[in-house]
Amino acid sequence: MSFDFSPQTRIVSGSGRVDDLGPLAAELGVKRALVVSDSGIIAAGHTERGSESLRKSGLEVAVFDGVIENPTTHTVRQGVEFARDFRPDVLIGLGGGSSMDTAKGINFLYSCGGQMSDYWGVGKATGPMLASIGVPTTAGTGSEAQSFALISDEVTHVKMACGDKRAAFRLAVLDPHLTVTQPRSVTALTGIDALSHALESFVSTKRTALSQMFSRESWRNLEPNFSTVLRNPEDIAARSAMQWGACLAGMAIENSMLGAAHALANPLTQSFDIVHGQAIALTLPHVVRFNAVEREADYAKLEFSSNNGTAAPPGDLKAGERLARRVEALRKDAGLLGQLSEFDISREQIPELAGNAAKQWTATFNPRRVEESDLAQLYEDAY
Ligand SMILES: [Fe+2]
Repeated sequence: MSFDFSPQTRIVSGSGRVDDLGPLAAELGVKRALVVSDSGIIAAGHTERGSESLRKSGLEVAVFDGVIENPTTHTVRQGVEFARDFRPDVLIGLGGGSSMDTAKGINFLYSCGGQMSDYWGVGKATGPMLASIGVPTTAGTGSEAQSFALISDEVTHVKMACGDKRAAFRLAVLDPHLTVTQPRSVTALTGIDALSHALESFVSTKRTALSQMFSRESWRNLEPNFSTVLRNPEDIAARSAMQWGACLAGMAIENSMLGAAHALANPLTQSFDIVHGQAIALTLPHVVRFNAVEREADYAKLEFSSNNGTAAPPGDLKAGERLARRVEALRKDAGLLGQLSEFDISREQIPELAGNAAKQWTATFNPRRVEESDLAQLYEDAY
């Protein structure tokens, strides 16, 4: 057994804990908080609730509200200019993955200078970085538990994964009430993404006994609760399980990366503006089937964990196929589309997509080696 585990992030979870943001931040010895949010989260009142707690604990607070979906290098630069005026000593990403990633992106440039592409890859920070806090309002990316910021180049739309242990949040506050106001479509898109993180990280080439523990526990929380939160958005116990499952998947990714479903999804977002969760919903079942040839036993273990330790129902299907069908059923529950042909993409564009997918870093961690021709076939399967 081989792993190196040193969590950087304190995790505080519970209903109403966003009201403790001030005292928790004060424990870090900080005085000036820059809260990074988007307009939807601000309109829902979550940003003000966190800011009020910070002010009550004596912190000066400013809000950068320029976060957009799939934040770009331009978004980050705007945030850095804002930070230069305000001179924060703590950055707080309060929102979905986009807000948290933008906060991390701002931290790289504000603390270390240069431009975002300087930090593309792992361990590129050139000095100490500001303390930072993640407060997720979705159950999706798991950015709160990772040292990676996903920032798209504003010109090429290439998604850059910029990771450094110093960029990881010192604290993550998980309050399930913050996830209740999400539109159904956001619950659907972020939930299927979180499920994919559990499935991909569980079998990746970098998996360890420890990362698999996070992935398995993530799947065990997400799989039964996804349909529940879609059906009953106010079910706080199910919302909490989803939030914890997404965070656990973030911890798994931090230790074991992802795989081909993400490699195939990124070009769909980059070239056709298909949102990440929808792109993942298209690719994931086919990648599970593709990988099952080599990872059948792992998929059986995952299935066993979400069946509460009872054996799978008798039948001819193997665990990988059952899991792929389960993802397809959840995708249908979520109201997400299941075929590439339902989008404005022609079959003739598949070779170009496959060429782009083959260049994605995350493809290198897929448990079964994927060549460009395999990726093209997977797009065909999804068409
Ligand atoms: Fe993802």
